[in-house]
Amino acid sequence: MLNLIKKIKKKNKNIKYIKKYKKIHKIYIKYFGKKGYFNIIMKLFKNIPYDIKPKIGKKINKLKKKTIHLINKQKLYIKKKIKKKIKFIDISLPGNKNIIYGNLHPITITINWIEKFFNELGFKTIYNYEIENIYYNFDSLNISKNHPTRSKKDTFWINRKKLLITQTSCIQTKYMKNKKPPIKIISIGNVFRKDFDKTHTPMFHQIEIFLVDYNINFSNLLYIIKNFLNIFFDKKIKIKIITSYFPFTEPSAEIYIKNYKNNWIEIIGCGLIHPKILKNVNINYNIFSGLAFGIGIERLTMVKYKINNIKKLYKNNIEWLNQF
Ligand code: DAH
Repeated sequence: MLNLIKKIKKKNKNIKYIKKYKKIHKIYIKYFGKKGYFNIIMKLFKNIPYDIKPKIGKKINKLKKKTIHLINKQKLYIKKKIKKKIKFIDISLPGNKNIIYGNLHPITITINWIEKFFNELGFKTIYNYEIENIYYNFDSLNISKNHPTRSKKDTFWINRKKLLITQTSCIQTKYMKNKKPPIKIISIGNVFRKDFDKTHTPMFHQIEIFLVDYNINFSNLLYIIKNFLNIFFDKKIKIKIITSYFPFTEPSAEIYIKNYKNNWIEIIGCGLIHPKILKNVNINYNIFSGLAFGIGIERLTMVKYKINNIKKLYKNNIEWLNQF
């Protein structure tokens, strides 16, 4: 106990050098908190011989008073200093001109542009979940039980029923069940596949557009896609339409455009919604028909800004990103 008293006396000499309010408060807790020095002293005090108790007790009380006085004095001093400092802040001075403002990532620029374009045409935005169950990602979209994309080699499975979505198309059946046409949706999402090279990353962005109404046909689909691409690239661009197969559309097609190296690359998968899909969501396919397409955002962005390697989009190189 006497050692502790000595220690406090020694420490008290340094209180006047403390400049930070936080620090002085910490010291206060160290001395007077629940597990503080003075509480420890009081516990030890109980066990000292009766005859020296009054003398030691007086000593402790004196030290306690002195310590409180020193701490309070220093607190006051620091407070006064802070006040003085505040007085000198000139709020009429202009702000710091050296702040570097960030800018939107090219992927975000593309997504925002497309969302706005389709919103103006009356398509409502919804967002895809990243984790979905097997029914919406595969079964409800008529993807057969032994389709290769279901394998562990291609898809990130969470467990036997849940997975990271491989395509934004899974929003089609999820959204449409219990809905009545007309349906006009744009859906934005991150999708996941086990791919990694110059043009593929394990996560990428897709936008899914679908429309269900009376008399929707293939020329409606092509008309929308062509106009969208011409306006997005701000010039009339050549497209190549190749017939394809997607289990959830019939007929199906892939849309190709030329990149800056003059190579054709696929940027959209599309088609007329398969009657089986409409049946799965209780929409009468004898009365209604629908169109759907999925846009690869990274690819579209790479063509627009002449980016040769998809990985550049994910490097977080500020200098490179600043050019957009
Ligand atoms: N989900 C397809 C993919 O990721 C793309 C696609 C094809 C979307 C046809 C559609 C569609 O909406 O109708 O490859």
